[in-house]
Amino acid sequence: MRGSFITFEGGEGAGKSTQAVALAKKLATMGIGVVSTREPGGSPGAELVRHVLLSGAAKPFGTDAEAMLFAAARADHLDTLITPSLENGKWVVCDRFVDSTRVYQGVLGKAGWPFIKGLEKLSLGEGSPNLTFILDLPADIGLARAHERRGEGAPDRFESENLAFHEALNEAFRDIAQREPDRCVLVDANRPKDRITADIWRLVRKRLHPETAPMTIEEIAR
Ligand SMILES: Nc1ncnc2c1ncn2[C@@H]1O[C@H](COP(=O)(O)OP(=O)(O)OP(=O)(O)O)[C@@H](O)[C@H]1O
Ligand SMILES: [Mg+2]
Repeated sequence: MRGSFITFEGGEGAGKSTQAVALAKKLATMGIGVVSTREPGGSPGAELVRHVLLSGAAKPFGTDAEAMLFAAARADHLDTLITPSLENGKWVVCDRFVDSTRVYQGVLGKAGWPFIKGLEKLSLGEGSPNLTFILDLPADIGLARAHERRGEGAPDRFESENLAFHEALNEAFRDIAQREPDRCVLVDANRPKDRITADIWRLVRKRLHPETAPMTIEEIAR
């Protein structure tokens, strides 16, 4: 039986990584084989592209080129990690995925929607997530959280955009959640971590029924 594919999306510092880790742990305690991954990156080929993108090295080529690099990295990530894992019955939890490309390169980077959609079709195939949590947090709070976590380190290519950019980004994520309610759930991320984790778990149980997932080979062999 194919596993479920869950993604976390939202602005900088919204708590995606925190919640992705918490969910993966919870699934693992149920005996489900979980693969935790992230974008950009997630596979050796895609991690190379991640470095190019986040260093800003691709920025001079424009958002169309950036979007193509994200798509190339995603195709590799799907082919080498996500799809084989799902086919083996594992559940995949991914920190950022296709909605981040739609928002950062599409809505905000001004790569046209037909272009973004075309790239999605090429890179995604059947690899759409079963469930996507969109963490919604006022941009100033998210940036302050990200800044605190980073300490004195330099902000990356996207963190260094201005507040209006980050507010527009949140708006674009909310728009996706509204348009695709079957796949997406908007989560109020301006709450204590544990409350958010509990809500996410309730929704995973309701929508994906992890209690009916078969144990993985490794679990059975234990
Ligand atoms: N609900 C919360 N309340 C307060 N602080 C939080 C909450 N969730 C996460 N944090 C803290 O905020 C910081 C950012 O969280 P996290 O790294 O999970 O966000 P992210 O969405 O993955 O960020 P980025 O976009 O930079 O990858 C971390 O220091 C984390 O411990
Ligand atoms: Mg993160």
